Parts: sequence; C-alpha cells; structure tokens
Amino acid sequence: MSLDIVGDDLKVELPTGESVRFAHLDYAASAPCVAAAAQAVGELLPRYGSVHRGTGVRSSASTIAYELARDVVAEFVGAGPEHEVIFTRNTTDALNLLARALPEGTVTIVFDGEHHANLLPWPNQLRLPAPGSPAEALESLEEALERTGNPALVTVTGASNVTGELWPITEIAALAHRYGARLAVDAAQLAPHRPVGLADADYLAFSGHKLYAPFGAGVLAGRSDWLDAAEPYLRGGGASAAVGDHPGDLEWATGPARHEGGTPNLLGAVAIAAVCAALITADRDALHAEEQRLLKRLRDGLPDTVREVSLFGPDHPRVGIVSIAVDDPAGTAQRLARDHGIGVRAGQFCAHPLVRRLTGDATGSCATTPGLLRISFGLGSTDDDIDRVLAALRSY
Ligand code: ALA
Repeated sequence: MSLDIVGDDLKVELPTGESVRFAHLDYAASAPCVAAAAQAVGELLPRYGSVHRGTGVRSSASTIAYELARDVVAEFVGAGPEHEVIFTRNTTDALNLLARALPEGTVTIVFDGEHHANLLPWPNQLRLPAPGSPAEALESLEEALERTGNPALVTVTGASNVTGELWPITEIAALAHRYGARLAVDAAQLAPHRPVGLADADYLAFSGHKLYAPFGAGVLAGRSDWLDAAEPYLRGGGASAAVGDHPGDLEWATGPARHEGGTPNLLGAVAIAAVCAALITADRDALHAEEQRLLKRLRDGLPDTVREVSLFGPDHPRVGIVSIAVDDPAGTAQRLARDHGIGVRAGQFCAHPLVRRLTGDATGSCATTPGLLRISFGLGSTDDDIDRVLAALRSY
C-alpha cells in the first residue's frame, strides 16, 4: 500500500490574500497520515466491531484484524517467540508501561538529553549528563554500569527529537549486555526514518502519530519475561483471565492481553500495521537517500543569522530534524505560519534539560529559556518545503 501523504495539497490563505500549499515541517511532533493507514482504516470501518469479545462477524473480523496487526508489527521490529508486541496509546504510554514492569530493585540509567517521555517514568534512576559525543556516552555509561551492583535497565533515544542525531544504540546495547543490563530504546523519532529492530534493543517503543498513522496507538515491543511477571498496566477486563468473588481472588492474563486492559484501539493498531507493512516492502535506502538530500539542502541553506544546535557535532548522522537558535523562536514560528503558510515547532520540545544545555542556558529554569525553532520532515517532504522555509528565514 502507498506511502503517499494524505492531504499534501492542503492550502492556507496568507494575509496578502494569496493561497499557498501548507508546508508541513513539524513531522517530529505529528507526521501526516499516509494513504496506507487511511486505506486500512477505511476498509475496516464497515466491518468494525469488538476485539476478543464477541461471536458475530464484526467481532471475529475485528479480532483477526487486530491480531494480524500485531503480527505485522512483530515482523517490522523483528520480534521472536521471546518477545511481546503490546499496543499502547503512544511512546509515553509504552515507556510508562515498561517502567512499571521492572523487577523490584532494577536501577534505571538514563541520560538527561532525553525527551521527557523517556526521562520521567523511570524509578530508581541514575541520571547521567547528556554526553558530548558517542564515545563520552559509552564512557559514562560504562562507569555507571560498573557502579550499580543491581540489575539495570539502560534507556536511550534512537534519534533525538531536538537535534535529530542518532544515538549509538548498537554499541550501547553491547555495553549494557556485557554488564547484564537490558536496553530500552525510545524509537519515536527513529522508527519513522530508519529500520528499527529488537536485534540490539531489549525493548522498543514508538508512536503511530509520528509513524504516519495518527489514530491514537503506539507500540511497546520487547522481552516478555518482565512483562508477564509484572502487575497489569491497567486492571480490568481483558487483562484478567479469571475473577473470583473476593478482591484478591483473581488470575491475570499473560501475553499482550495482560497490559491491554479494556477494549483496545483496533483502528490505531491496524493503521500502524499498515504503515509497517508498507515500510517493510519499501526501498528504505532510497527513502533514506531522499531524506538526507533534503537535510543537506536545508542545512546548507540556513542563513548565517541562525545557529544549528547539535550534541554530537555537525558531522554526526541524523534524521530529518534540525533545531536552530534564533532570537525569538516562538515569534518566528508564528510568522512562518501566518505570513508563509509553514508549520514548524518552537520551544523546548518536551526535552527541557537538553534544550537548556544546547542553548547554553545555565539558569536551570524552564521559565526563562527561549527555546529553539525546530524544522522536521519526512515522507512526502519536497524541495519546495525546504526552499520556502529557508527563504522566509533569510528575509527576517
Ligand atoms: N515529542 C513530540 C515533539 O518532539 C511531541 O514535538
């Protein structure tokens, strides 16, 4: 099915009265929907019914569609029999689920350059300063792993939602495993741009709305042992296998059902799976090359008046996300939208410690940081989108 963008001809009217195509450059927050997701949802709607809860044709078709969606996502991430694929609401939900499933006493090791979704949920946290290079990340991680005698979970982003930079997850996985620790990867920004898999990571989390499937679902995929032993994430129907007459007299389900209490988001799961299926058969190298071409066009064309931020240095590989320091990020973003029909995001992108560091703000306060302006793109983005934002920035 097609990876064409739904609504890439959206028009907006400028104050001059001119009508222009909206240039969506905020994929890192919410990517547009692709035809594969819209089509899969459209085809299922006439048959839509209750998942795992009925005998009629709607219910059986929906149950089959939901479990097929799980199989496709499992293929997308390379899950094996030792793994589970759990449908969640989004990455934040997936990581909170995992955080609640950790065996007692697990130390979590996290860098403070993370999105809040991968910074705030973790208990027993050993928080490390965001590293200035991949080598520094490995060095401080090794030191932390040596220090903690307990079982540990290391959790890192696959690609930064602020700088787009790739984190060295293969090396981090090898290091974590050498110390008997596990690795969780926040793949919210990685999965839309690069193949992701459970070959390195023990757990992967990502969101449908960043993967061109904006129907309210996300994914946690990873090793089943901790998940099957944990308290259900949501106590209720679906998560319970048998409930007796007394409060403690109950048996919880195992497998994904244990953490999918309540009626699941069938359409969200099916939409994610449709995109995963399309990406599995797509020419990922060609998509990558096109994205890198646009990235170069953008970075080469930035005016001297703005400064691109980076943690690992300008030559470090990244996905289609660029954040720049400008005098008034919020005002600039508003002008881009109002006067040029361009959508970007300004602020701190739910990554307050990282943005403070990248902007050299030593106050430690979120209130005083002007933040950054972020330009992000992906499937369907064009030279025209890039050229328009560059022309607008040059005119300020
Ligand atoms: N996490 C999303 C972003 O970075 C919302 O914009």
